[in-house]
Amino acid sequence: MELTTRYLGLALKNPIIAGASPLATDLAAVRRLEDAGVGAIVMHSLFEEQIAQDQIKDHLDRETIAGSSAEAMTYLPEPGEYRLGPEEYLDQIRRVKAAVSCPVVGSLNGVTGAGWVEYARHIQSAGADALELNVYSVGAGAAETSEIIESRTLENVRAIKAAITIPVAVKLSPFFTSLKNFAMRLDAAGADGLVMFNRFYQPDIDIERLEVKPTLHLSDSSELLLRLRWAALLSGQFKGSLVVSGGVHSVEDVVKSIMAGADAVQVVSVLLRKGPACVKELLAGLSEWLISREYDSLDQARGSMSLEKSPNPEAFERANYMRILNSWRA
Ligand SMILES: Cc1cc2nc3c(=O)[nH]c(=O)nc-3n(C[C@H](O)[C@H](O)[C@H](O)COP(=O)(O)O)c2cc1C
Repeated sequence: MELTTRYLGLALKNPIIAGASPLATDLAAVRRLEDAGVGAIVMHSLFEEQIAQDQIKDHLDRETIAGSSAEAMTYLPEPGEYRLGPEEYLDQIRRVKAAVSCPVVGSLNGVTGAGWVEYARHIQSAGADALELNVYSVGAGAAETSEIIESRTLENVRAIKAAITIPVAVKLSPFFTSLKNFAMRLDAAGADGLVMFNRFYQPDIDIERLEVKPTLHLSDSSELLLRLRWAALLSGQFKGSLVVSGGVHSVEDVVKSIMAGADAVQVVSVLLRKGPACVKELLAGLSEWLISREYDSLDQARGSMSLEKSPNPEAFERANYMRILNSWRA
């Protein structure tokens, strides 16, 4: 079955991409992903905070030589909390590129833009085939309007696009007031793709210790529905690539994402639960599914259930909302 896919202008042998995760820090896991047939691999992110910390450390090292105190460093996150520092991150891109034949996507994660442009260039020089910008922002500042957040992101995208020649995808959160409008502005700013969506890892509260504690739950397929709606709404509108990330666990999840209009899907939780070899099963199942329904290629299914092509377009918009609520029977 023909599963080839174009993603960010890159030719992928199939649409299943290993999304950003710690697997990229482990070369054995990277090779297992390649052996399982993954279409591309996204590196885990290099965080803006790490870059800033490295730059401040360099500065403080020089200041210390000049007799100044390094006490300010104690306010920064511990370097040991990150898997790889900025320089090691670039080395890891080189190692992953040397280990696999599929495209490798670097990932930068941050909001302010400081120091990013330089690292985007380094990531390109290290051999990444594309760059994913994860613009994770909680938006908790009372004075920070949605326009401030969106303009800042657009400015970052423009600055990075001007600095590098590899394609750039933006990994978004679903929490924008007018996501379609923002997506079209990202399009105009030069974003080559949208990764939909970031998952927010919500802090929990330990009521005995009175502590706020971080939680990380892996996803399940129920998270896919939000992604399907937005892939369907943006398909044929956003000029670049659309990627569904979040809740893709089964062959059916892949088929639904492609039918909604995604060019490709990213998987992480299923890889962490079942191991990289599950990609092989997903690919075999996808081919089988398409053959048994007499599709000639994956392309034939792509976008067939998008808003533009859906036999029931109102299902993606408000009209269906009342019907769903009224359909509930105890
Ligand atoms: C342990 C773990 C580490 C992750 N690290 C990153 C990261 O470094 N950068 C990033 O953009 N997303 C990161 N993610 C988010 C995933 O790339 C993905 O968007 C999310 O898990 C949703 O996909 P899934 O439902 O297939 O897990 C991480 C997820 C997990 C579970």
